[in-house]
Amino acid sequence: MDKMVIHGGERLIGEVQIGGAKNAALPLFIAALLTDEEIHLHNVPALRDIDTVEKLLRNMGITVKREGFDATIQAKSLDTIEAPYDLVRTMRASILVLGPLLARAHGAKVSLPGGCAIGTRPINLHLDGFHALGAEIDLEHGYIHAKADKLAGTTIDLSLPTVTGTENLMMAAALAEGTTIIENAAREPEVVEVGNFINKMGGQISGLGTKTVVIKGVSALHGTDYTIMPDRVEAATYMVAAGMTRGNLLIKGARPQHLKAVIDKLSEAGMEIHEENGGLRCLMTGSIKSVDAKTLPYPGFPTDVQAQLMAMMCFANGLSVISETVFENRFMHVGELKRMGADIQVEGHSAIIRGRGELSGAPVMATDLRASASLVLAGLAASGTTEISRIYHLDRGYERMEEKLRVVGANIRRVKA
Ligand code: EPU
Repeated sequence: MDKMVIHGGERLIGEVQIGGAKNAALPLFIAALLTDEEIHLHNVPALRDIDTVEKLLRNMGITVKREGFDATIQAKSLDTIEAPYDLVRTMRASILVLGPLLARAHGAKVSLPGGCAIGTRPINLHLDGFHALGAEIDLEHGYIHAKADKLAGTTIDLSLPTVTGTENLMMAAALAEGTTIIENAAREPEVVEVGNFINKMGGQISGLGTKTVVIKGVSALHGTDYTIMPDRVEAATYMVAAGMTRGNLLIKGARPQHLKAVIDKLSEAGMEIHEENGGLRCLMTGSIKSVDAKTLPYPGFPTDVQAQLMAMMCFANGLSVISETVFENRFMHVGELKRMGADIQVEGHSAIIRGRGELSGAPVMATDLRASASLVLAGLAASGTTEISRIYHLDRGYERMEEKLRVVGANIRRVKA
């Protein structure tokens, strides 16, 4: 397994280009199942999760061609309607095939994802929604068996604004008979992206970005061309990197309208952030101020940036309380940050960080994608050498991270196993 070796203490100065959003690209690849015509995607990030979704689609007999940052997908016919355990296990987003398969092929067999490093992560809201649309759902031998001769529009009131749940139901409802209303829908920009994409395929979805999404079912969707939005979590990660290394980075492609909560929080922590040349200039000259934060569904502070902010708070001088309200167990990075000298105490859903202005490099282990990112950031700002093992987690969601960081002055290298 590859390792990342970082000699900390370098200020990051220069420009970082943000790639296409992982959590938009994944559902868009899968939405290609909704038509037998060609889908052309641009700005596709080079990530391990994209390789996994490609495998998942190919396994169903779908043509996927990738060239650089472009992909062409055509689901002319399906060899199988199954998403097997070994693929769902490596990438939970595979459950997004349920909606399009039900709509297009009237059935699906998808492995139950099970728990993961950040919590139990049930999918009951996806399944209840499909049931309300008219699908029969059975669980057998670790698989979800779903079938529906036809799907009929209805009102679905989500008890939690689930991101992939909203996307899954939107995809199914796009080809259902009649109108579906999703109440308490997720408002994340990636959800809006999926809706816009379906509309470009001939769908009729309105209310995107609000709590009530209305989907008028159509009889067929057609092929289209689409450029994937920039990754707001990758952007936020480099913004924190600029702050933690007292750096000066232009985060190219970052969309400020997607990052409001992050910009507000990092500004409160002492960073200067402003729009410049189609990106965000992020500068840190003074010392890092302790701030409190609470993760919330969009437009609140994103859970996907919680670990990175926590790494930053270890370098402040003072007390910070970070509460995680989206996932029940997303503090796996705490133990690793402690190995680097952090003073963090977890009490229920909150972590109390007593910032000491420094951390010292140590061997640490990555446990999930965003936890891995927080350890890279901690390593960049710590004194001495940090060695991060199990970085395959990082490759799931960060494109060539060590290369992007090296260009702006980081002393970081990947050691191949
Ligand atoms: N939930 C349920 N039942 C459901 C669905 C969700 O109880 O049927 C709960 C979850 O357990 C969690 C909360 O609702 O406590 C929110 O989960 P959500 O369904 O919104 O998360 P997700 O769709 O599984 C997506 C992203 C995550 C991101 C979350 C929250 C993708 C592929 N994944 O997950 O991204 O953290 O939304 O914003 O879009 C990452 O990129 O590192 C990542 C984990």
